[in-house]
Amino acid sequence: MDFRHLKYFVAVAQERSFTRAAERLYISQPPLSRQIQQLEEELGLKLLDREARPLALTEAGRFFHARAVRMLEQLDETIAMTRRLSQVDRRLVIGFVPSTMYGALPRIARLFRARRPQVPLVLVEKTTVEQGEALKAGQIDVGFGRVRFDDPSLRREVLREEPLVLAIPTEHSLAGESGPVSLAQAAAFPQLVYPRKPRPSYADHILSLFRDQGLEPAEVQEVQEMQTALGLVAAGMGLCLVPASAQRLRRDEVVYRPLLESNATSPIIMSTRLNDQSEDIALLRELIDEVYRLQAVEKLEAERKSMPVLTGPRSSP
Ligand code: BEZ
Repeated sequence: MDFRHLKYFVAVAQERSFTRAAERLYISQPPLSRQIQQLEEELGLKLLDREARPLALTEAGRFFHARAVRMLEQLDETIAMTRRLSQVDRRLVIGFVPSTMYGALPRIARLFRARRPQVPLVLVEKTTVEQGEALKAGQIDVGFGRVRFDDPSLRREVLREEPLVLAIPTEHSLAGESGPVSLAQAAAFPQLVYPRKPRPSYADHILSLFRDQGLEPAEVQEVQEMQTALGLVAAGMGLCLVPASAQRLRRDEVVYRPLLESNATSPIIMSTRLNDQSEDIALLRELIDEVYRLQAVEKLEAERKSMPVLTGPRSSP
């Protein structure tokens, strides 16, 4: 038995069809059937119920499938980490959800490229759920996402809880004021949420913020991307809760208001493979703290500049 047998069996188990699995594996069906038969002969038991439509797994097949998936993930991870250790394939691949591009990510990436010019940096857009899969498959080395999910083979750190703001069309009744608005006020109007899939996603996080307060938005429209959601807000189709950093996406037809609820936040979560101790990831983590420190200083500076200059009482001559 070798890894090819496992790969073939997992494809059949997931597709529930020899035809589709053969297509997915780019092979023809007869060798695929032979390999699965060999595997069953070696184990001395049946993994598939071939009478069932669609094809089903036996109890032993279900157990073997779960273990085979884990072994294949470990193999991918081992290959990625060995390559990295031997520096054959030294590069840092970051998966990110689009909204992090309006936060600290561009600055962190610029600093990384300046400090490690010899390490190619690759940035690929992925949802949080896709990041988990891509980390295990060795396709990315770090993920910056917004949805909490548990996976024992991944290390997860919440870097910060970013406040949310409500995006409102300029003509809307809620756009008249600039102070904080409540989730209850927002829920009275149609909400745009994203991404539509894969779930769980940022959309579920937003809907559960409403539901935690016993609120059900008047209407919910799901779209795939934040940009689309904000475009629809501009078109007057509804409101949308976005991370505060998205306010950088200035549009004449949209205004943003902060939320009254202090727990209306969205986490920025850094995920890596559990045992990946690469020095490039360590540097990236240091740079995140550095950027946060710089941002705090810049914020203080900006606040200081916008404060009215206090002139003291005139001293008598
Ligand atoms: C941030 O905006 O805090 C952030 C975004 C991506 C990576 C790290 C931090």
